[in-house]
Amino acid sequence: MALKLDLTGLFAGGLSREDFATRLPQAAAARDAHLQTMPAWRKLHEATHHLESCRARAEAVKAEQAPEFFVVLGIGGSALGNSAVLAALAPVYQEWAPAEGQPKCMVLDSIDPDWIGEFLATVPIDRCHFNVISKSGGTIETSSEFLVFYQAVRDALGSDEEACKRFTVTTDPVGGHFRKLCDELDLFTLEVPDGVGGRFSVLSPVGLFNFEMAGLDSQSMLEGAARVDNMCATLPADQDPTLAYALAHVMHMESGRPIHVHFPYAHRLRLLADWYKQLWAESLGKKQNLAGEVVHVGPTPVKAVGPTDQHSQCQLYIEGPDDKVYTMVKLGKHTHTVNIGKPFADSPAFSHLANRSLNELIEVERQGTEVALLDSGRPICTLELCKLDAFHVGQYFAFFEIATSIAGGIMGIDPFDQPGVESGKIAALSLMGCTGYEDRAAEIRASAASREPFVLTC
Ligand code: PA5
Repeated sequence: MALKLDLTGLFAGGLSREDFATRLPQAAAARDAHLQTMPAWRKLHEATHHLESCRARAEAVKAEQAPEFFVVLGIGGSALGNSAVLAALAPVYQEWAPAEGQPKCMVLDSIDPDWIGEFLATVPIDRCHFNVISKSGGTIETSSEFLVFYQAVRDALGSDEEACKRFTVTTDPVGGHFRKLCDELDLFTLEVPDGVGGRFSVLSPVGLFNFEMAGLDSQSMLEGAARVDNMCATLPADQDPTLAYALAHVMHMESGRPIHVHFPYAHRLRLLADWYKQLWAESLGKKQNLAGEVVHVGPTPVKAVGPTDQHSQCQLYIEGPDDKVYTMVKLGKHTHTVNIGKPFADSPAFSHLANRSLNELIEVERQGTEVALLDSGRPICTLELCKLDAFHVGQYFAFFEIATSIAGGIMGIDPFDQPGVESGKIAALSLMGCTGYEDRAAEIRASAASREPFVLTC
């Protein structure tokens, strides 16, 4: 039931316990400041009306439309948590063989024309229900995906009235283009609550409607988050694992280890690592601190999945530059047990595998990588989820959201804004000729023209 964080190996190289203890009061102050402001995302587990409205909508969609495919259109914080939960908790091969009575669920978080074009050519569009997710209601990828699929559904069903039934829009309750359109077309909407930014929104309707559509246990996910939220708000600062995680990582970053490797040893957790990457990067990578000074700070999160990436990344991790901190994510128990059996048990090549299990092997491989990293003096910690279920995934989300907030506080930056992302969004809108962005488009073109080309071909 408990999430267990073993920090022992973080003090294997570079960081001393004494230095860590010296900085604890600063981290405790960051935690206090965070608790005083208490952002809305932290209490999503108490907002039961969100789950009720998402569940009711999911039941209605299934009863009235029985969609074969349920498709999320969104990007960044509107998509990554959904992909992560589907990978972690839905049947592994649900895109081919979903649980009985549930649709096949997909998250289309790219406008790559080959990906979307193939989808349009392959999936029966009249058997889909779409959930368009955009807090701001102005993200160009999500807007364009909506237009593509709305057109396709209208063509397939023959009218706006029928097409509208196949869409749910999850967006801001008041502002943004989607809100305006939904009001005009009378599209069904779910709300992204006020004060809940994209990458902190997975436990809001941004995630809950999808989890209900996939037949997952949203309630337990919220309970897992509640446990971490409540415990980490009341534990003494020196006993709070989110605080310790944040402080140790900030200290390692400051002393030359800015690359933070997230290393789950469970294939079903691989997309949680993508969710974590966005949370850690977008929250902590900032140009300015809270005093308005230019600081250009932030860790670089990297994803590795064990044991696959042992055969891809570990050579670098163990013998390359000592500029990384490692977080292994371990499952106490996998859902399945797979015995290797004993074919060729007499062969020296296989005898050590006879009658063993893949469960035993994956844990031994994890330990092997840990030993090799520790022997090289590389700092490593392990976060253990007792097992893979909705409750523990909820714990995981809350753990990293809180740790990220505290890390931002220790670093003296705002972890909840994303001006860099906004500048990219504005540049794309400008280059697409969006009204009001003409000057910016001219600036971008002038700047591109001023660069001396250096292009090679072969
Ligand atoms: O975390 C964030 O704020 C971003 O990654 C957003 O989620 C992403 O840019 C999509 O924004 P929106 O939900 O407004 O379409």
